[in-house]
Amino acid sequence: MASTYGAAQVLVASNRGPVSYALGEDGSLNAKRGGGGLVSGLSAIGSDADALWVCSALSDGDREAVRRGVGEDGVRMLDIPADVHADAYNGIANSVLWFVHHMLYQTPLEPVFDAEFRRRWTSYETYNRAFAEALAEEAAQGAAVVVQDYHLTLVPGMLRELRPDLRIGHFSHTPWAPPEYFRMLPDDVAGQVLRGMLGADRLGFLTRRWADAFEACAERFAGGLGGTRIGVHGLGADADFLRKRAHEQDVEERIVALRQEIGEDRRTIVRVDRTELSKNIVRGLLAYRRLLETHAEWRERVVHVAFAYPSRQDLAVYRDYTAEVRRLADEINAEYGTPGWTPVVLNLKDDFARSLAAYRLADVALVNPIRDGMNLVAKEVPVVSDSGCALVLSREAGAYEELGEDAITVNPYDITGTAAALHEALSMRPAERAERSKRLAAAATALPPGQWFLDQLDALRG
Ligand code: G6P
Repeated sequence: MASTYGAAQVLVASNRGPVSYALGEDGSLNAKRGGGGLVSGLSAIGSDADALWVCSALSDGDREAVRRGVGEDGVRMLDIPADVHADAYNGIANSVLWFVHHMLYQTPLEPVFDAEFRRRWTSYETYNRAFAEALAEEAAQGAAVVVQDYHLTLVPGMLRELRPDLRIGHFSHTPWAPPEYFRMLPDDVAGQVLRGMLGADRLGFLTRRWADAFEACAERFAGGLGGTRIGVHGLGADADFLRKRAHEQDVEERIVALRQEIGEDRRTIVRVDRTELSKNIVRGLLAYRRLLETHAEWRERVVHVAFAYPSRQDLAVYRDYTAEVRRLADEINAEYGTPGWTPVVLNLKDDFARSLAAYRLADVALVNPIRDGMNLVAKEVPVVSDSGCALVLSREAGAYEELGEDAITVNPYDITGTAAALHEALSMRPAERAERSKRLAAAATALPPGQWFLDQLDALRG
């Protein structure tokens, strides 16, 4: 089989790749490069390393790019049929596996694992197989492959069968469900997911807590880890990139605009999230309302700047959630707003420069997810904050493991407790806030993306 081996020595596989294409009305294709930890992590191995990123075409523009043979060096996009991708990505990954790991079901009515689920599961297998086959084709003998996330849980096992010579790693960017919740999946599906993952030589998680949960599931439902090793790699913020980017001209302009919108002397409670069920934006607004209700001294003196940019809008439950966020923000503004004061400034448009502007001027950052693999916002705000920021942080975020000590921690379901935490954060003396912010920034940048990626690679090869 030696002749069929590919050339890549290091391979990354993920659903969303580092580049996307938009199809213009005149038929032109416009490439847009994405950011994020994985992109900067991979760049750390250097351009001469024979690295290949295998990802899925996500849009019509992406599919057209694949068909025209347009692409970037080091990226292979898979033209998975749109309906198969939709079933796998929306129908299984985001509606089932994401829900299980974040424990998002309203269990009296869901999940329902019926014939429709089985049909989608078949698409998830097909989609995973397409990745496994592409990786098998591209990898050089003995190459290292790092598979990313819950979209691709079956890939390690499938790839192991095709190419026993490879070193296969998998990294989970999400939490892992505890056994009592994980066993909601039909037994055969749960077994397939675990066996798929256990096809890897090494599994990486963001925190010890998620690694332990996986191990417990493997013990209970798959007879243990076998030869698979487990590692914890707490992805940190990219300080160099963020500090530089946060001082570019477009961010400066947005600070001026944002300051004007908020009012000169007002405090700010900032949150920046995808509009994502697990981020708990609605309870964040409820807690803010409770703060205004119980601490009248903050009325007119604080603004909640909430950035909740669209995500996974193909799913009705995400659209409904976005509508609820908007409704509640309007309700609070109608209830408490005055001619010169808008209590909630809600932004639903993704604008990275504006998010960085909000990071810089935040007095308080609110990060209150129900459950979150890590949460990089909690790590990024202290890094770029101009004069120190108090962090209100959910104990269910992965970042809590590293930042808990200098944050004000909350139970994300406890509105009264979160309102009290917001009051405490707003009342914190500037010197203490600056001190804590400094320590938070140090903890947040302990493992920058480049090192995070290289550590995994070393451990996989070691
Ligand atoms: C989470 C997942 C990532 C995913 C990201 C954005 O962080 O762990 O795999 O890419 O959310 O979600 P999306 O569905 O838009 O790719």
